Amino acid sequence: MEYSQKVMEHFRNPHNVGEIPDADGVGKVGNPTCGDIMNLYIKVKDGIITDAKFKTFGCGAAIATSSMVTDLVKGKTIEEALEVSNRAVAEALGGLPPIKMHCSVLAEEALQSAIADYYRRQGLELPEQLRHIQKHDEDLHEKVHGSGE
Ligand code: FES
Repeated sequence: MEYSQKVMEHFRNPHNVGEIPDADGVGKVGNPTCGDIMNLYIKVKDGIITDAKFKTFGCGAAIATSSMVTDLVKGKTIEEALEVSNRAVAEALGGLPPIKMHCSVLAEEALQSAIADYYRRQGLELPEQLRHIQKHDEDLHEKVHGSGE
């Protein structure tokens, strides 16, 4: 399997690793097939993502895509960040081997989950693009924060 130079760079030296303790949105997703897990944190000010960090327990492509997606969304508005697809992440990395494309889907889902969490914390209705994850996310929210909040 051939990885691009960019994938190798981001895998060896990932950007934005860590947690944001006072994050405005937290996304947590997993791929049940491979068991890889991605947590993504965003800090938002005036509708703009000012910081993004991640913690990923996963394969090299999952780490590289986490690194790239957090790079890509920093400085973007929430609406712009919603348009960042897994394909855009993979392209920014110079492509991924076809059997590793699902790893980039995890990055897209983690981002959407973090944004959905942001909307919820603001008491805002989820935009069209995020409705599909609402239910899933509510379950997750309970697991992460407990239902007694
Ligand atoms: Fe699971 Fe890459 S193999 S995300």
